[in-house]
Order: sequence, then structure tokens, then C-alpha cells
Amino acid sequence: MRAAIEAMRNGMNVAIVSKVHPVRSHSVSAQGGINAAIGANDSWEAHAFDTVKGSDYLGDQDAIDLMCKEAPEDIFELESMGCLFSRDDEGAIAQRPFGGAGFPRTCYAADRTGHAILHTLYEQLLKYGAPVYEEWFVVSLAVEDSICRGLIALDIHTGKLHRLRSKAIILATGGYGRIFKNSTNALINTGDGMGLALSSGAELMDMEFVQFHPTTLKSTGILISEGARGEGGYLLNSKGERFMKRYAPKTMELASRDVVSRAEQQEIEEGRGVDGCVFLDLRHLGQGLISERLPQIRQLAIDFEGIDPLKELVPIKPGAHYSMGGIKTDVWGNTNIKGLYAAGECACVSVHGANRLGGNSLLDAVVFGRRAGQSASVYSKENALAGFPENLLESAAGDIALIMNKTSGQRAASVRDELASVMTMHVGVFRDKNRLEIALAKIMELKGRYKNIYLEDKGEIFNTELTAVLELGHLLSVAECIVTAAVHREESRGAHYRLDFPARDDKKWMKHTLLSKDGDSIKLGCKDVAVTKYMPMERKY
Ligand code: FUM
Repeated sequence: MRAAIEAMRNGMNVAIVSKVHPVRSHSVSAQGGINAAIGANDSWEAHAFDTVKGSDYLGDQDAIDLMCKEAPEDIFELESMGCLFSRDDEGAIAQRPFGGAGFPRTCYAADRTGHAILHTLYEQLLKYGAPVYEEWFVVSLAVEDSICRGLIALDIHTGKLHRLRSKAIILATGGYGRIFKNSTNALINTGDGMGLALSSGAELMDMEFVQFHPTTLKSTGILISEGARGEGGYLLNSKGERFMKRYAPKTMELASRDVVSRAEQQEIEEGRGVDGCVFLDLRHLGQGLISERLPQIRQLAIDFEGIDPLKELVPIKPGAHYSMGGIKTDVWGNTNIKGLYAAGECACVSVHGANRLGGNSLLDAVVFGRRAGQSASVYSKENALAGFPENLLESAAGDIALIMNKTSGQRAASVRDELASVMTMHVGVFRDKNRLEIALAKIMELKGRYKNIYLEDKGEIFNTELTAVLELGHLLSVAECIVTAAVHREESRGAHYRLDFPARDDKKWMKHTLLSKDGDSIKLGCKDVAVTKYMPMERKY
């Protein structure tokens, strides 16, 4: 939405195509906040340094500098649009400590920050009158001669396919957390944008880096915000010990996420967990603070775990949360396909490198959304509408008919379930060659079975069994990229921890991983990391 607003300000004729209503997009679930160095004693340079260190030195430092420098202005703009940030005693935007940050620089709206920003941006969309094709599912991008000329989308209400011609497309489709069983992500997060881009010839980057959030609810994987630890919550093992003192003695629960998730997983695997979990203790924070700053997570714990954090320990464990990798872009959202842009979680600029800091995701979406909107506008002014590839609509219709007309074979749900199981078991917080190769072999088997998927629902109206099959196609191809890149990277960096290669290896691996489609397989390449002024150091918290 931020990209669309920028393009409309530039006089563009913009439409949003989304498989859900815009305010049901997953950014609505972002809880804890958005980073910007707006505090009197903070600086964008300090924010940039924390981000580079958090990325385990794999983030591109020129892009990180730019994001951190532009952050304050974007926050004040959101505020002036009407975003209801929480306030400090002086009435300024309140900021809380977050993991890996040397300063309390996470601006927040209680623990519903994404909700507040999403609704603010939607109001702006209404103001500009952008048409929204809501509950339309994009089935293919119209790319010919490496130029994007529009897309084909399925109107889920009617089952009809439509051709949308455009000069430029900005993908802002979020992550793929649903590849895993235990995830903070909504059911809609199936990596569709990454899958579409990959199959149209775009490059993906750094797909091995999957962020596991340290605090997700035991039974459902629902996010319990890092804000809970930022406000003073502790992590305890089965012995009641604040175990983070052994892993990150200086920053304890506010080390970066990869460090905290690994510590929890180690406690659990060494027998100091309970039922696959450790505990988050918020009892000492008291009713006043929790009601003011963390009301949603209290309610989520009550509703989904039957636990009231005011009185009880909350059982939590690491869960798939965020994709550091994605569609390779520059700082203007350009991909390697003309007219195709990407921003937000589906993109990889790269500002997060091997591990993202909490609060930098909403920021990435806002800063690089704005920039992608700006550059797509310039491109659209300079280029004429290109012809739409002949027969693309017919071929998309043929592909869908093939799925619809099968009368026997595999059901999508079982393939999706097996994928999530193998990814959770073998491509988690700790990895090794053997486990990764088991996962890759399973993905290839599932890809074979995917060709035999059939549907029970043969209807045209709201056929969600059909959209689930299309989503499964993306889940499988994104999973193949994640595991291929994870097998390839023989070192441990950020969220990618290889038990068989436990050290970071800057000599060999200060490189981004590139992935592209080569017929039916995935081709690997690499790109140097942009290092400007922060030389790689040992990371200690
Ligand atoms: O923990 C959280 O509130 C999540 C924030 C983020 O992923 O940036």
C-alpha cells in the first residue's frame, strides 16, 4: 500500500491486486514495532551499525545506511497520516528496547503496530481512490523478452481468469512461513510472489536464511511479541533458571533473535524444557504495564493457550517467522526483469542479511515500498505499454483446467502437510548436511506428486481448494530454494546454523546466494556483500 500511495502521488494510474482484503494482509499481525533513530541520544549510524551486526555482516551496508537514514522521515510521515503511535510522558512517539538494538528505538502502537500502520495506509488508499481487486489470485506474471507486461489473475468470487495489462508491477506479497508447521505466519503466507517471480525468470537471493522467532505460543505458533522481552519479560527453563545468562551475558533476553532462538532450542534439546517449550515470564510486569503496552499478547495467551501471563508462565518455543531472503532487488525495488519490482518481505535488498532485527521489517516495507513506488512511476512515465504475450490467458486457463479435470490422484492437503513436517523436522534452527539432504529428497518427491493433484471441489465460485493447490505449487518451489541454498552454504551465519560447519567463514562466505530457475532445476550463483565501513567482527551480545 505504501508503494501504491507513492505511485499515485506521482500521478500514476494504480490498482492493487490482492488475494485478501488489504487490511487482512499479514502486516496486520506485526506486533512490537518499527525502528527509527528519533530519540534525542540516538543516531541513524547507531541504528545502521546494530542492523549490520544483527545481519551477521551479510547485509549490504550501503542499503542499510540508506534505510536507517530515511527511517525517521517515514515514521513522521506515518504519524502525520494519522498513525496512532503510543506516546511517552512528554507526548512524543514512545520507543521500546528490542533485541540486538543498542538503544530503545522501536516505535510502537501498544502491541498492535502493524495493525495501526496498515489501517492508516488503507485510509490513504481510499483517499486516493485506488481500485482494489480484492480476493483475486495472481496465477502468472506476463513476462516476455525479460519485460513484465502485466499479469493473469483469478477472480476467486467467480472463478474467471482476467488479463491485467500494466507498465509496471510491484510485488509486495510477504513471506512463506506456512512452509513450516510451527509458524507465526497467517495461512495466506505461502510465498506466492517469490514463486511467481522465480518461475518468470527473476532471481531470488539468500533463501537459506529463515528467521525463527524466539517466542511463539506452544499450541498454535501465534506470535508473542519481542516487545514482551523489551518491556522486561524473562525467559526461564524447566529449572526456573534465566538461561540466557549462559548464551548472551550482556544483553540476556534482548540478544538478536537467532541467538535467543538457538539458546531456547539448545535448552529444549538438552532436556531443560517442558513439553518442547521453555517459558516466558511476564508476571512481574504487572497489570498496569501489560494493559497499556501488551494487551493483545495477554489476550492471545488467554484465548489460545488458556494461560494468563499476569499469573502464569507462558510456554513458548521458536517458530518460523520471517524470510531474510527473497526476490533480489536494488534499493529502488528493481529486479532483473524490466518493469517488475518487489518490496517488503518478499524482496531481498538486502538489509537483513543473515538475521533481521525485530522492528526492521515494517521499516523495510515502508522505506522500500515508497522507493519502489517512486521508481516504478519513473519507469512507467518513460515507457509505453508493451504488448501482452499472446496465448498467455489460454495457457493459464489450460493449466487450471488440467487441475480441475483430474478425477483421481493426490489431495493437496496431504502434500502440504508432509512438506511442513519435513521442513520443520530437518530445516529448523539447527541444520546439517544429512538432514538437509533428506528434506531436499522429500521436496523432490512431493513435487512429483504435485503433478497428480486433484480436486474434490469442481465449482467455479470461491473454489478455495483450487487456490490452495496454486499456493502449494509456490510453497514447494520456495522450499526447494531454501533447502538448496542451505545445503550449499557450508558455514554458520545468523539464522543459518550448520552443526557440521559451526563457525562463520568470512573468507569463503561473505557472499549472497543467488538462485534462479534453469529448466526444472535451480541454478546457484553468488554476489559480493557491499561492505562500506563496518568490518566483520565476532558477534557478541
Ligand atoms: O516480536 C515482534 O513484535 C515482531 C516484530 C518483528 O518481527 O519485527
